[in-house]
Amino acid sequence: MRKPLAAAILALAAFHASADALVERGRAVYNFRCYFCHGYSGDAKTLATTYMDRKPRDFQSANAADYPVARIASAVRDGVPGTPMKGFKGILSEEEIRAVAAFVRSEFLERRAPNTSYHTLENGWPNHQRYAAAFPFAKGEIALDADPAKLTDSQKRGRELFVTTCITCHDRARVVDSGPAWERAK
Ligand code: HEC
Ligand code: HEC
Repeated sequence: MRKPLAAAILALAAFHASADALVERGRAVYNFRCYFCHGYSGDAKTLATTYMDRKPRDFQSANAADYPVARIASAVRDGVPGTPMKGFKGILSEEEIRAVAAFVRSEFLERRAPNTSYHTLENGWPNHQRYAAAFPFAKGEIALDADPAKLTDSQKRGRELFVTTCITCHDRARVVDSGPAWERAK
């Protein structure tokens, strides 16, 4: 009896390892192709959605049963006509489509997990810690328009760095006064 059981456990372990590898391949696709609309952790809170009539669903609170992998894969492959969700057929390989569908399903809909840290070595950000002075602005801990007299020298340098290099992606920094909304001239 022992041998078959060990073999079954090994097979199961191999199955999980390949499932994990698929999800991680999907994460890489997602973090390149999808996050700026769907949110880094799938919550759909992005600047891009503020321009959309049909907004993406918050996967973190959506009913997982509504989104089997096949539905996710088919949305990625063919898009949703008449919405900003364009099909990725011809852009992503069938394997990448399966991987990103597995990632969305497993990480956001089933596990409700946040995405992994973005500025990692694997994502091409070696030693991101050297920009630490700008982190409070990226995280919204210090408002961008905070009174300069109340900032330390390091925080002032951090804000300078933030507005010159980080804001291109971190476009929703916290502000105290958001100013007037832009309007078309009458
Ligand atoms: C340009 C913005 C944009 C990008 C990029 C984008 N999506 Fe979407 N996506 C949307 C919008 C908007 C919807 C909502 C469409 C609707 O109303 O059904 C949507 C819908 C979906 C749905 C739900 C479809 C359904 O059947 O309800 C899934 C799953 C999805 N996207 C996955 C992805 C994945 C994975 C990627 C990356 C490969 C991606 N999207 C890239 C905007 C985008
Ligand atoms: C190419 C786009 C891009 C640029 C440029 C960028 N970031 Fe980010 N950053 C992201 C994304 C995407 C996330 C993950 C989503 C989130 O947490 O909002 C992130 C997350 C973070 C986090 C949370 C921790 C983490 O690693 O996920 C910090 C802190 C941060 N960025 C700081 C900075 C600073 C400081 C700069 C400028 C030196 C910067 N970022 C430039 C895209 C970018």
